[in-house]
Amino acid sequence: MDMAPENYPDLSLHHLEEDVLERSKTIPSAWYVHPSYHDLDRKYVFSRSWQYVCSSARLAVQGDYVTDIVAGNPVILVRENEQTLKAYYNVCKHRGGPLAMDACGHAKVLQCKYHGWTYLLDGSLRGVPRFDRTELFDKKDFGLTPIAVREWQGMVFLCLEPSFAPPFEEVVAGIAERIHPATLEHLQFYKRDLYTVESNWKVYVDNYLEGYHIPLVHPDLMSVLDFRSYQTETHPHYSLQFSPLKDGNHAYGSSSDQAYYYFIFPNMMLNIMPGRLQINRVDAKRSDSCSTVFDYYYSSITPTDLDGRIKEDLAFSDHVQQEDVEICEFVQRGLSSNAYDQGRFSYDLEGGVHHFQLSLKRAYRVAREDLLAGENVSGGEPS
Ligand code: FES
Ligand SMILES: [Fe+2]
Repeated sequence: MDMAPENYPDLSLHHLEEDVLERSKTIPSAWYVHPSYHDLDRKYVFSRSWQYVCSSARLAVQGDYVTDIVAGNPVILVRENEQTLKAYYNVCKHRGGPLAMDACGHAKVLQCKYHGWTYLLDGSLRGVPRFDRTELFDKKDFGLTPIAVREWQGMVFLCLEPSFAPPFEEVVAGIAERIHPATLEHLQFYKRDLYTVESNWKVYVDNYLEGYHIPLVHPDLMSVLDFRSYQTETHPHYSLQFSPLKDGNHAYGSSSDQAYYYFIFPNMMLNIMPGRLQINRVDAKRSDSCSTVFDYYYSSITPTDLDGRIKEDLAFSDHVQQEDVEICEFVQRGLSSNAYDQGRFSYDLEGGVHHFQLSLKRAYRVAREDLLAGENVSGGEPS
């Protein structure tokens, strides 16, 4: 990874300035299109934040494991015992092989799939075949690298660099109280959908964070939400968009019910409606490509629900997502064009985008300081 400052166009103090919503410009297009920002995002944004992995129910019994890729790193979560959930890099200390190659499973010990080194669920190295003549080798030096893990409301989160991230409890502070009497922890995981979006991950996040595009991009969603009452609240680590639901014949309840759209920096969304949670995680694949995980949870998953409410919810979510994917891919091409660099915000409807971009600027400011302090810097500032 070449982290020389000259490789980061528009990472200047001027671009990192934090203006109020009324006066702020949007972030420069280079941050969405220049390939070097991909590595910077991994290191300074995704590795230094809490990332959703899965439902706790998938790790219910000792030995249950789930694998994933977080900030480009293979990880494995495993239930060590009733009290303890562990997370490790899914990387063997011999020559980098995988401890598990499937998405989930059950194991008494973690055995590397390459040459068979065996680790206990607590991460210590136990079995090392055919290593008798290897000198100055101590198994104690070759335990798995642990990762910070938290469970909250029946979901599992991890953080690769917790010393650079806010404490998990601080990140989600206030959410459970705000959505009361709705709760998340009794919802049951039903299904995961995965979408690929040919745009930078920030394009997808920006788009999620504003209701401004709803009338033109999502005419059917307009008919479900009471758009005139749409509001955005901002908090230290997340923003909340909410809107009462219109009365009517749809899967989401009635006008006494709220839809809550939480965005937790940098890439997690909790979409809460009565008896239903959809959680999204946006993963950067390349500078011009990302994927989005959609996990669906419901209060009840009976055959009647599956054939009615849930079927309707999945179909409608997919429909809205296809509309978002299409517009995001167009926007990526627009941001990459000669015609665009920075825009402005609607005060009424784009406060969430502004809030996200301020958090991003804070992460980039740290990156810039590190870049300037690095050995590669030979005087001068990033352009
Ligand atoms: S890489 Fe794991 S045993 Fe060789
Ligand atoms: Fe949308």
